[in-house]
Amino acid sequence: MPDPTSPLERLRALQGADLPVHGGRTLAYVYDSGEPEVDRVAREAVATYAASNALDPTAFPSLLQMENELVGVACDLLHAPASAVGTVTSGGTESILLAVQGARDSRPDVVRPRMVLPATAHAAFHKAAHYFGVEAVLVPVGADFRADPAAMAAAIDDDTVLVVVSAPSYAHGVVDPVAEVAAAAAARGVRCHVDACIGGWVLPYAARLGRDVRPWTFAVEGVTSISVDTHKYAYAPKGTSVLVHRDAALRRPQFFASAAWPGYTMLNATTQSTRSGGPVAGTWAVVQQIGDEGYLRLAGRALEAVDAIVEMVGAEPALRVVVPPDSTLVTLATDDSCDPFTLTDELVARGWYVQPQLSFGDHGPTIHLSVSAGTLAHVDELRTALHASVAAAQASGPVAVDEQVVAFIEALDPAALGDEDLDGLLAASGLVGTSADGDLELPSRMAEVNAMLDVASPAMREALLVAFLDRLQRPVRGVLR
Ligand SMILES: Cc1ncc(COP(=O)(O)O)c(C=O)c1O
Repeated sequence: MPDPTSPLERLRALQGADLPVHGGRTLAYVYDSGEPEVDRVAREAVATYAASNALDPTAFPSLLQMENELVGVACDLLHAPASAVGTVTSGGTESILLAVQGARDSRPDVVRPRMVLPATAHAAFHKAAHYFGVEAVLVPVGADFRADPAAMAAAIDDDTVLVVVSAPSYAHGVVDPVAEVAAAAAARGVRCHVDACIGGWVLPYAARLGRDVRPWTFAVEGVTSISVDTHKYAYAPKGTSVLVHRDAALRRPQFFASAAWPGYTMLNATTQSTRSGGPVAGTWAVVQQIGDEGYLRLAGRALEAVDAIVEMVGAEPALRVVVPPDSTLVTLATDDSCDPFTLTDELVARGWYVQPQLSFGDHGPTIHLSVSAGTLAHVDELRTALHASVAAAQASGPVAVDEQVVAFIEALDPAALGDEDLDGLLAASGLVGTSADGDLELPSRMAEVNAMLDVASPAMREALLVAFLDRLQRPVRGVLR
């Protein structure tokens, strides 16, 4: 390859190392409509608004207009009442952070605020707990991986400021019994947030397509807020989600103003202050471009692809679908003849990026697939790749972690590990290697690394991965020419 000279050439060369965002074969992180015109419109809109600042709606009224229209579309999808209001945020995690922060600040009378979560709730709620000092009360889910309404109700107490359900949960792709949990929350006067970050733009269309969708929107009494990510199944460019509240009073504690300094009065609806107009404009343009009929068509394709995947998994004796999917997420498990980590590597080697999920509680490791509309055109290739990957994973056999290594890891206290210990562990796990010229090297196959993380406790996984990220994020000096 010629030595790249211009920044854009260099950019494209760098991007070659990334997962493809188009082609429907990357089954986590990205969502592909499969329609090139959607991507073209998104790119142009993002570029047009990249320098605009949504910080001040009086300075950039066009962004306010676009945001109000986007929230309006979300309100229509979510059966929100006329009183509903919302905010465009930067993503699912920010929507969730704000839902938790708002719930906490709506109850200044509570000294030790708590939120009741099904054990399957997204990690963003744990981040919110960490940031905002709200205790996460984790309630085990039922055998069907759905929240247990009676146990959730029993966990609510006088200090509970929020109850959470998912529609659907990320790890298992099932919709919680929202109506029962929301009723229990309402009976105690507690807010109930539905995390529909990943399903909120698909489930309404799934229902319209005649699929069985249990109630989860504002049509359910007691639901006070819903998050839905436009940068997932609205197929918008990265950087937007919508947080909708049933009424303005519920949203009020989310707002922040500060005149306690000599500059402009800071006035924010989100955790960000300066906000790029790019993602807002890109999302607005994509939503217009696809339109209601378009989303119905794309949801139909994604769900058809899910059906095909469930069927192809059924044809592989070594595999099973962990729970029948309620939406566009599929979770796979393997039998003893192969392990999910090797299978993941084999699929990745064949151009299909799937995401390993480590053991948790009583459940073994699984493989996660977020299926896009763009995947449908390629399901026959996936069938071939899956079959060959299972055969290859069976031929190489499950990854075994040395008993002594397991014992060693179990004996360590993650909180007491110093930098040298972590360096040693990262090298031993294969997560971080060093090339001949001393550069940090990432593993090309992850099965051994994942198998090792799988035997580690959640606290040890966190410690190792934080140390890993710390090693990754190191400055590259001398770049400016
Ligand atoms: C159910 C659910 N909630 C929250 C999030 C977090 O969203 P984000 O990665 O946009 O912050 C995700 C992401 O996959 C999700 O699936």
